[in-house]
Amino acid sequence: MTTAMGTLVVERVETMQRVCRQTRWNARLGLVPTMGALHEGHLSLIRAARRECDVVAVSVFVNPAQFGRNEDFERYPRTFEADCALLEREGVDMVFAPSSAEMYPRGMGQVMVDVPEVGARLDGRARQGHFRGVATVVAKLLHIVGPDAAFFGQKDAAQVAVLKAMVAELNFPVRMVVCPTVRESDGLAMSSRNRNLSAEERKQALGLWHALVAVHALVDGGMVDAGRLRRELVGALQAAPGVEMEYAEIVSAETLLPLEEVRDGALVAVAARVGSTRLIDNIVLPGRAR
Ligand code: PAJ
Repeated sequence: MTTAMGTLVVERVETMQRVCRQTRWNARLGLVPTMGALHEGHLSLIRAARRECDVVAVSVFVNPAQFGRNEDFERYPRTFEADCALLEREGVDMVFAPSSAEMYPRGMGQVMVDVPEVGARLDGRARQGHFRGVATVVAKLLHIVGPDAAFFGQKDAAQVAVLKAMVAELNFPVRMVVCPTVRESDGLAMSSRNRNLSAEERKQALGLWHALVAVHALVDGGMVDAGRLRRELVGALQAAPGVEMEYAEIVSAETLLPLEEVRDGALVAVAARVGSTRLIDNIVLPGRAR
């Protein structure tokens, strides 16, 4: 356990549990789970947590359990020193940064939390086992920290659906707060993986946002048929140079099941590869009554 200018950095589960147990006595505790390589998207969650809670804990853990065998676990950006400096500047009280051995002392996969239906849709279909890894690590973090509120980004809409289902079904006494997607000035959703894009790919990556904006415009114009909207979405992604579509769906934000007609809160979600980097983005539609 080291202290760097007021922010407590904790590496051990037992220490974190002890500190959080003491904190919860007389303070509202907020948790922001992250995998580090922090950007403004993460900071927006931290600022929301600071507004709503007295004490803020941020976890920084690149969770091996949520990466598939052929995925980018090794390549995932790790910038722990810079992350700590940012977290200190944001006035974060505690950083929980365990090793893999600390989080999975018996090895990964010994006990897993599965959300089989919602967790098999969108990214769960494309990345088998991914949401089992996410649900498991977030369940562990919620147990270790025991926060009053936990903060997540709308950027990962399928993750939000999976974690809300988990928290409801397993009766975690935590409030789930979902914060809007933070974007670059040209619209690209901020992501730790954007660091892996070349200058050319960075331009091409905007194809995802432009496809979403096109669908939004059609809905604004009165189109409600989700099938037609989806065809437009797929067309826009396929026409975008350098963008290799993985999925493009118009679904219920809660169940992630396809909709026939868009309604208030419908989710338009896309995933694509730009070069070797996998990107996701989404918007929530306003629906017909506007
Ligand atoms: P990570 O990708 O680091 O994201 C941490 C949190 O930041 C997530 O809730 C994510 O939705 C949010 N976030 C990322 N980009 C954002 C943006 N542009 N605007 C707003 N919020 C954004 O998601 C994970 O880590 C992991 O799966 C985790 C939940 C930590 C479990 O390992």
